[in-house]
Amino acid sequence: MRRPVIAGNWKCNLTSREAVALVQQLKASLDRPTVDVVVCPPFTALAAVASQLTNTSIALGAQDLFWEPQGAFTGEVSAPMLADLGCRYCIIGHSERRQSFGETDDRVHKKLRAALQHGLTPIVCVGETLKEREANRTFEVVRRQVQGALHGLSAKEVGALILAYEPVWAIGTGRNATPAQAQEAQAFIRRLLKDGWGAPVAEAVRIQYGGSVNASNALELLQQPDVDGALVGGASLNAEAFTAIVKSAAEAKLVTR
Ligand code: 13P
Repeated sequence: MRRPVIAGNWKCNLTSREAVALVQQLKASLDRPTVDVVVCPPFTALAAVASQLTNTSIALGAQDLFWEPQGAFTGEVSAPMLADLGCRYCIIGHSERRQSFGETDDRVHKKLRAALQHGLTPIVCVGETLKEREANRTFEVVRRQVQGALHGLSAKEVGALILAYEPVWAIGTGRNATPAQAQEAQAFIRRLLKDGWGAPVAEAVRIQYGGSVNASNALELLQQPDVDGALVGGASLNAEAFTAIVKSAAEAKLVTR
């Protein structure tokens, strides 16, 4: 059985002082969670949040990385730098980066390889825009993004990553995909994994849903068989809401200690 994974993408929010306050609330409310829990603060708060997370079951993730390990790349942050800070996960290919920062499938692929090389678990985001969905191009777009990111990887490498299905129209809009829409797209992604890397890998890889997940809709989404977790934006900035989502994941999958 796949262990659910709930990740909070804090996006470009919170000073390090505010981030520490949030993580302290989470530590108090998420005592020994039975699912994997990850928080992804902005780069500037990673060190401060990391110092709060030692000996806790909350893991640290970053929101992006650069593929080269070091060098003359002003403004960039590399995988070994993130690993050094205690990051275990890294979001890659978020639609906000694809839309506003020129992230292409090729760049996503390079970042993914760099993350794996340095022991970070990539959370690779894919998802269609509203226009693409309305033109019945959801599967085509998701296929291109998954294959563009993962081509050439070994079964072992693919088995080590997390995918996040985040339909662009559901991000920050308050309009989440219905559980049936999420399930349909995520079952499709799992079929792509099966076709490319075999059934055992496809069965092992966790696929998160992201897009307006909140305390009220999380349970129903997470009850879908191919929804193995959530990548949470806005609601992850609220300790109570994020805790409720983590608890919904445990309930949906009946995870026991
Ligand atoms: P919201 O939960 O705010 O819709 O954001 C989702 C997201 O982009 C997570 O990566």
